[in-house]
Amino acid sequence: MTNLVYMDHAATTKLDSRAFEAMVPFLTEDYGNPSSIYSISRNPKSMLRKTRDIVAKAINAKSHEVYFTSGGTEANNWAIKGIARANQSKGRHIISQKTEHHAVLSALDSLAREGYEITLLNVDNEGLVSPMELMQKIRPDTVLVTIMAANNEIGTLQPIREIGRICMEKGVYFHTDAVQAVGAISLDVEEMCIDALSMSAHKFYGPKGTGALYVRGGILIDNLLDGGSQEKGRRAGTENVAGIAGMARALEIALELGDEENLRIARLRDKLTDGLLQIPFAKLNGPSGAMRLPNNVNVSFDGIEGEELLVSLDIAGLLASSGSACTSGALDPSHVLMAIGNDKELSRGSLRLTLGRENTEADVEKAIKIIDSTISRQRALRNGRNR
Ligand SMILES: Cc1ncc(COP(=O)(O)O)c(C=O)c1O
Repeated sequence: MTNLVYMDHAATTKLDSRAFEAMVPFLTEDYGNPSSIYSISRNPKSMLRKTRDIVAKAINAKSHEVYFTSGGTEANNWAIKGIARANQSKGRHIISQKTEHHAVLSALDSLAREGYEITLLNVDNEGLVSPMELMQKIRPDTVLVTIMAANNEIGTLQPIREIGRICMEKGVYFHTDAVQAVGAISLDVEEMCIDALSMSAHKFYGPKGTGALYVRGGILIDNLLDGGSQEKGRRAGTENVAGIAGMARALEIALELGDEENLRIARLRDKLTDGLLQIPFAKLNGPSGAMRLPNNVNVSFDGIEGEELLVSLDIAGLLASSGSACTSGALDPSHVLMAIGNDKELSRGSLRLTLGRENTEADVEKAIKIIDSTISRQRALRNGRNR
């Protein structure tokens, strides 16, 4: 493992050892069910209370507005289906945009089958939605707008503040999938007029299978899971106690590291981007600078097959991704790259590198070297074949 360079932090991150330590008691001596009333449940119960405060504080929400989930996918499904179904007396029209994660797009497909009307906004060639277009598309029967805070493939940061304000002024609920944004940019649900927000622990060095949904107090939302009365009767199922303890600790650490670490990573991102753009026929996908996640690099290489490139990079010791991990293995070109106007060929030849805490300048230099030589080799082979 030591010689590997891991640059796929958008897919998942390594559990922080301090988050792991926070989990251990709840996997060993403090194993009580937090819903029980005997003594061994006291610690799990008080931990849930404390962690809810930590998660709420991280996004300037109130503790009672935070619900623990099994991750980002559940949080997105619950927010979108739950708010749409509970508020359908207002209307059955929902607005989103084309580069959302499948956890949002598929939830919307499911609502479309129930008779909801879905409008997907276009994005520009950097992946940005137009707040003006959003304003024009909101109708009297629009009940929900769901637009991600940060894109998982090309790192585009959407103008969340403006979108939130428009939704508030128009009286439409606003949900944001902030799975890639938490820990990377600051989020304030009050200032940004966000009514619901999804997060997932394994994207910020917490454990997999744990997340949270914030829902503004007073907003009607149907349950997604039926069963016991956990989470104030809103989300049934015994809580993933250890996972939640790990998530809260990971979140605290991410906030402590804050801007300084994100600036360091952004500098590495820029160095990596500059290096990769020196390779002939390379094109940067997504915005440069301020409107991009600090850790995201996505480059297309003309004439290169993304999956083939990934396998060669893996052999050379560099772990990266083409498009999103959830669709890797599928032959379809990325819907995100198609939405920003790339043709199929260029979309298939894309490489996503997402940096993280353990990456260094030496890793970046090594990654550039490996990618450069792999692409030269693959192009030479291809030219040989075509001759
Ligand atoms: C933007 C975005 N939303 C949602 C998800 C799903 O989160 P989870 O893996 O916790 O279900 C991901 C995971 O890749 C993501 O990147």
